[in-house]
Amino acid sequence: PRILVLHGPNLNLLGTREPAVYGHQTLADVNAALVARAQQAGVEIATFQSNHEGQLIDRIHAAREQRVEFVVINPGAFTHTSVALRDAFAGTAIPFVEVHLSNVHRREPFRHHSFFSDIAEGVIVGLGSKGYLYALEFALDRIAATPR
Ligand code: DQA
Repeated sequence: PRILVLHGPNLNLLGTREPAVYGHQTLADVNAALVARAQQAGVEIATFQSNHEGQLIDRIHAAREQRVEFVVINPGAFTHTSVALRDAFAGTAIPFVEVHLSNVHRREPFRHHSFFSDIAEGVIVGLGSKGYLYALEFALDRIAATPR
């Protein structure tokens, strides 16, 4: 794939998990919308969710081998905890957009810091599942501007 979408811990519960905060769309709904948009643009996309930090790191390493050009990631709670996942991006130099469904800045203070934002191309917070599609739009523009 040229674009990889990564979902971190607990995002498999989307749709049933605190719907007032995260919305009613399931992860399958979100992924289906992303795949449909990428297909329309003729760009190969893959999606991956894991509750395990190491699996997400391994997937980022594999993405470099696969010459993935852009990642869209919602690191979930690893956003606020994972130096290791951050280092996977620093180490592979794959550009990425960080997405959060909720507006983390109007939630608990422990959600205000991200280990990813300062090395991300950009950050989308608080726009619900549409945020992934906006991030994908940016990735598609980037890819269109840099033929491989
Ligand atoms: C989240 C925000 C995080 O603080 C939280 O731990 C999540 C989801 C979001 O999409 O709003 O799991 O990344």
